[in-house]
Amino acid sequence: MRILLIGKDGQVGWELQRTLSPLGKLLSLGRQEVDLTELEAVRSCVRLYRPNVIVNSAAYTAVDKAEIEPDKARLVNELAVQVLAEEALKLDAWLVHYSTDYVFDGRKQAAYVESDQALPLSIYGLTKLDGENAIRHSGCKHLILRSSWVYSIHGANFPLAILRRAIEMDQIDVVSDSFGAPTSASLIADITAQMLYRVTWDQLLKESASGIYHLVATGRTSWYEYAKYLVGLAKKKGLPVKVASNKIFPVSADTYKTGAVRPKNSMLDSKKLCSEFGFVLPEWKIDVERFVNELVMPKPL
Ligand SMILES: NC(=O)c1ccc[n+]([C@@H]2O[C@H](COP(=O)([O-])OP(=O)(O)OC[C@H]3O[C@@H](n4cnc5c(N)ncnc54)[C@H](OP(=O)(O)O)[C@@H]3O)[C@@H](O)[C@H]2O)c1
Repeated sequence: MRILLIGKDGQVGWELQRTLSPLGKLLSLGRQEVDLTELEAVRSCVRLYRPNVIVNSAAYTAVDKAEIEPDKARLVNELAVQVLAEEALKLDAWLVHYSTDYVFDGRKQAAYVESDQALPLSIYGLTKLDGENAIRHSGCKHLILRSSWVYSIHGANFPLAILRRAIEMDQIDVVSDSFGAPTSASLIADITAQMLYRVTWDQLLKESASGIYHLVATGRTSWYEYAKYLVGLAKKKGLPVKVASNKIFPVSADTYKTGAVRPKNSMLDSKKLCSEFGFVLPEWKIDVERFVNELVMPKPL
């Protein structure tokens, strides 16, 4: 099996390099090798490699900046994805793609299921939804995995930002009225590889598994509770945290002025994924603890 991974240097892409390699002959590309704003280069790349599977973990992920450069966000998150889908269809290849809770408006009280109506609040969310639709309408075999609150020790994310602030500052404010489930890039990459293994080898799942799946760790938290849990763990494990636990203050998301509006409910329901593939997803705290352990681990060099 020939696998083409695009976006190898992102949080999820980095982990995919590890989990996809036992599945076949893996070609991992970053922005240097293929820039998704250059649509003909994207097409030529797929035609040259002729993969059986394309995994696209690259995306325009600068949520606030997308509001001021919507054309670029659209190029990467929709038009390049459409090219990948067209080429996947011609090759009869699987296309694996990632999407987000930002396709929803966050007004639902319960966790979102795949069939809930998407109503993005931001340009980022809209371009990600348009990318999903481009894949669905292309007719190619696809796995679209929607996740939320993604983090890893490589990359820019909430837990790294919180821990930096906790080390430098005496007090921090954290949003307490937005809810979700922190999901590690490694969990996403592990599940991706297992899904691919199943859809490419298991006669029962072949083709019929094509579709959208929600993929998040289990449990529910707010950014505020998440930050408190992280800082507590970091302190226990010896990171030089300055902020006292009673100096982490809850604030409303409305007190922050951001370029893009974000959904307040980011909860996604992964039942469809678990029932169709037989997965048991871990509680969000498990990988967060692992993340902190990795941060405090002594560096051998
Ligand atoms: N992060 C989250 O909280 C979150 C939540 C839900 C869903 N998702 C989705 O999950 C997927 C993976 O997210 P992530 O957190 O791994 O993202 P990430 O860390 O921001 O990585 C995105 C990657 O895309 C690459 N990229 C951006 N523009 C490109 C272009 N024009 N050409 C080629 N590569 C380009 C970036 O390259 P450089 O390294 O050169 O910048 C980066 O390596 C995305 O589809 C995202 O929408 C993310």
